[in-house]
Amino acid sequence: MLSAHDNELLTRTGPGTPMGVLFRRFWTPVLLASELPAPDCPPVRITVLGEELVAFRDTAGQVGLVEGRCPHRRAELFWGRNEEHGLRCVYHGWKFDVRGACVDMPSEPPESQFREKVGLTAYPVREWGGYLWAYLGPPDLPPPELPRFEWALVPERHRHISKKLQECNWAQSVEGAIDTAHFSFLHMLVDLPEDAPAALRYMKEDGAPRFTLAPTEAGFVVGGARRAGADGAYWRITQFLAPNHSLAPGAERGQNMSGQTWVPIDDESCWVYTYTWNPDRPITEAEREAMRSGRASIHSVVDDQYRPVRNRANDYLIDREAQRAASFTGIAGISEQDACIQDSQGRIYDRTKEHLGTTDVAIIEFRRMMLRMARELLEGREPAAARNGEAYRVRSGAEVAPRATPFAEVAADRLAMPLERG
Ligand code: FES
Ligand SMILES: [Fe+2]
Repeated sequence: MLSAHDNELLTRTGPGTPMGVLFRRFWTPVLLASELPAPDCPPVRITVLGEELVAFRDTAGQVGLVEGRCPHRRAELFWGRNEEHGLRCVYHGWKFDVRGACVDMPSEPPESQFREKVGLTAYPVREWGGYLWAYLGPPDLPPPELPRFEWALVPERHRHISKKLQECNWAQSVEGAIDTAHFSFLHMLVDLPEDAPAALRYMKEDGAPRFTLAPTEAGFVVGGARRAGADGAYWRITQFLAPNHSLAPGAERGQNMSGQTWVPIDDESCWVYTYTWNPDRPITEAEREAMRSGRASIHSVVDDQYRPVRNRANDYLIDREAQRAASFTGIAGISEQDACIQDSQGRIYDRTKEHLGTTDVAIIEFRRMMLRMARELLEGREPAAARNGEAYRVRSGAEVAPRATPFAEVAADRLAMPLERG
């Protein structure tokens, strides 16, 4: 349970809010790189952390991310013409480059210096792991290095990336990702087939995993252990990486790994950037197709605006007969099952009314960590993780181990990273 004050602190990320200030110390994905596919392509509207922006790729291929309205009379620059090294407002022709400088002002006399006074706020952008990342931090604080996620470091063929709209606050969706206890119900089948993977059986038979947490340089790692046979433990190990990333716990050795990053659009919706990778081999076309069609992993089936086809407005196409006979939710897709239940907590989840139990320790730690970092920054203490790209080069995964083996040993063995990559 949180106080109303702390719930506000955790969930609000607009300009000037403590959590918004904290988020702006970190690089954040804002688009798939493929949304700005070529020089001089159409600009794209972006709302991120409550700020309305527009992104465009100029003639030289450089990406600009600038405030969304023309400083003249506040027309939306989304309607602008992306031409010859700049975006031109189509109202009276003022033109801006990727750094936000006004490079042409045809509505003023030729000798006018006015254009030097009216630039746009512009944010640095980098392409990394197939996404475009922005740094929305203060201009006097130079951008840090990018987070060195393994999925961004592997060759492009080794990863599959996507994005989807989520119609609720970012924090409750993160809480869903670090809560492996829910797999025993939310994603479970009513009857397991004979040939079901052992992991599903362990989860179905043990709905009360024992949790162990350990801090990392960028967040914390969570192990959830379920009974596996007479003397075994089935561990699902999740990473939380501040401020808004999680690596999913399901991958067994050699299997594809997945993770997600939640980027607030505003306080009532967010983009979920989802990535799947395999360090040892390319992702096959069949695997990509399974992910695009929602049959595998935690990617969602989306329309051309990245809105899930099964969504809040159509009750995620729940099938009550399937719920009776086949799956606990009657909703198809792991990602959609997660979205349904996270959305259902409210646009902004009211944490003053909940009753947390034994399996909620990771959720408690997530809130504690985020609130602490936001408060520390208010007092002038910068988040070290924001400037430690290497801290993000970690793995998650699942493992069966003898029940007596301590978490530290299981994790050290299962999550070992190759020393050099990329
Ligand atoms: S409003 Fe953009 S040029 Fe006038
Ligand atoms: Fe889930």
